[in-house]
Amino acid sequence: MTQVQLEVRGKVAVATIDNPPVNALSAAVREGLANAIKSANADAAVAAIVIASAGKAFIAGADISEFGQPPAPPSLPEVLDAIENSAKPVVAAIQGVALGGGLEVALACHGRVALPAAKLGLPEIKLGLIPGAGGTQRLPRLIGAAKGFPMMLSGEPISAGLALEYGLLDEVASSDVAAAAIRLAEALAAEGRRAVRSAATGELTEADREVFEALAKDALKKADGMPNVAALVEAVRATALPFAEGAAVERRLFLSLVADERSKALRHVFFAEREVAKVPGIGPEVKPREIASAAVIGAGTMGGGIAMCFANAGIPVTLIETAQAALDNGVNRIGAIYDISVQRGSLTLEAKAQRMALIKPAVGLAAAAGADIVVEAAFEEMGVKQQIFGELDKVAKPGAILASNTSYLDVPTIAAATKRPQDVIGMHFFSPANVMKLLEIVRPAGSADDAIATAVVLGRKLGKVPVVVGNGFGFVGNRMLEQRTRAAERLLVAGALPHEVDAALVGFGFKMGPFAMADLAGNDIGWRSRKARGLKAAVADAICEAGWFGQKTGRGYYIYPQGARAGQRCPEVEALIARISAEQGVTRRSFTQEEILARLLDPMVNEGARILEAGIAARPGDIDIVWINGYNWPAWRGGPMFWADSVGLDLIVKRLEALAAEIGDKALEPAPLLKRLAAEGKGFANLKG
Ligand code: 3HC
Repeated sequence: MTQVQLEVRGKVAVATIDNPPVNALSAAVREGLANAIKSANADAAVAAIVIASAGKAFIAGADISEFGQPPAPPSLPEVLDAIENSAKPVVAAIQGVALGGGLEVALACHGRVALPAAKLGLPEIKLGLIPGAGGTQRLPRLIGAAKGFPMMLSGEPISAGLALEYGLLDEVASSDVAAAAIRLAEALAAEGRRAVRSAATGELTEADREVFEALAKDALKKADGMPNVAALVEAVRATALPFAEGAAVERRLFLSLVADERSKALRHVFFAEREVAKVPGIGPEVKPREIASAAVIGAGTMGGGIAMCFANAGIPVTLIETAQAALDNGVNRIGAIYDISVQRGSLTLEAKAQRMALIKPAVGLAAAAGADIVVEAAFEEMGVKQQIFGELDKVAKPGAILASNTSYLDVPTIAAATKRPQDVIGMHFFSPANVMKLLEIVRPAGSADDAIATAVVLGRKLGKVPVVVGNGFGFVGNRMLEQRTRAAERLLVAGALPHEVDAALVGFGFKMGPFAMADLAGNDIGWRSRKARGLKAAVADAICEAGWFGQKTGRGYYIYPQGARAGQRCPEVEALIARISAEQGVTRRSFTQEEILARLLDPMVNEGARILEAGIAARPGDIDIVWINGYNWPAWRGGPMFWADSVGLDLIVKRLEALAAEIGDKALEPAPLLKRLAAEGKGFANLKG
């Protein structure tokens, strides 16, 4: 059951790695590779060695799931030293991806051949790490630091063609990469040439080092506190040392990053992103429906953004309004957004024209008749939605998916307006819809599995991160956001000021705090929704009553002189807040940034626990993916549920109990699931599987 098969073809021993799905370098693979090199060297009939792979990938890197566990010998650097020091030349036959430790295996070889479609990269930076098996030492020695450092800094893979140009590959083989690798291995053996031994290859040139130092300076400026950028710079600088010493520097830095909370968070996100794609109860036997055309109802900001998503993905879309003027406005707005991309150079004029041509404006719902999917993005009011779906039921073709972009409303009630509730689902985009990655797919009871599967596949085609959620007020994201919004208002009344609350969240890693965000989105939106639901928020209501709707009116929680984007503290708002505290008999007190964070985030975690209890989210990781992709939660903080685990659920329970008692609000008491996990000394991570 070895994961590395050794087969001798002529004079060449071919070691084939077979560890599905992506040939990650598990302990068994490392051991298999080390044994293969050893026995090929011991076999007098073998002159050279090829490392090849079965399946789609060459090697996707170290096995990320092994990080954080006790190391199992042999270590990857040990295996790579054995490859590099092999008395017989070793050639890598690369098909598919050679990533991270996978590219490091290839770098330790004496020759490298790849198929044209192969991708080569060192993506460790995206996991909060740096290459840890000699990549930072061998890559710059082989292709120069000026080219190698940017590859490691971005983590983006390069094509085989570019790798050949860089000298990272010896050859690009149009087909049968193993045969080409065997030929190269035989040639190297015949010539007695050890080819380029990457570790030993010369020092970096002075000019190369200068370019690297300039790039490093810029990278450090933009590092945003991520420790792996500085570590990468330090490791590449260590190429000035003899190889073994440089490799020791890299290893020390790598191991300290593996233990760092930020890398743990990013690794959690890596697995959560993949898990979210698996919808409970919907297996590969459920075949998605074909989506060749779409219709979007409503040409407002949201509907226009959704139509752009379809056009960007090359799917023809009919954009529908009730009146020509509104339609013209919507189409013009879309054109203007594309124009900005053209001005910035990220879109060509031809591409803009192609996308605009895919958007067919139409007045009246009858135009939705031919669409395989209809996304309704009309006014957020049940009566409006029901009327639209009732009419759609009459015109849409059989089997078409009818999706509502509602952010709060009950999807089954919308579906009840049709005779085909199985085809009615929610597709909740986030604003701006053409930019934000998150797509909540609402799966009401009674919806057809293949309708949900279709939405997931389509979501990915539109470049989104689809998360399937259950039906329930505000679904996952907005339901938790509401808790944070209420917490922010409570903090103002209790003694904090808007800039203090915002600073706590920015310090945590969000791009913006709740008040700057509210000013940007428009305070009147929440006001209208509170009024509709009979809810009150003393400060937020008073600000709206004064007409301070945010940036669009020049003032909200902050003042925006002459259309400035960054708000300034507003003495009038601060006086208004103090007055409301006094009216409510609250003696204002100051809060530390940690207290503010706990008061904002603990109630969100509590709501997350309720969402899990109710089955609205399938897994804690799904909630994390929602918050990272839809609400700018910093990925290196892993999402709210991961964060809660890192704080400790027992502490969160204690803080919530204290808060509930202080405010006198039973709704803030810890959810049963949260209490149970805390009492058992567990975290949300224990709910997996
Ligand atoms: N370790 C463990 N599991 C991995 C893995 C890895 N390096 N790479 C992928 N997988 C798993 C995924 O979790 C997924 O598992 P699942 O089916 O149980 O959900 C499965 O392989 C397939 O992965 P994807 O769904 O991502 O498949 P795609 O075909 O879309 O993408 C890929 C394949 C491009 C290889 C992508 O998985 C990827 O980018 N992988 C990570 C690459 C990476 O970061 N490598 C560096 C690792 S760190 C390292 O090497 C340190 C070294 O320097 C010492």
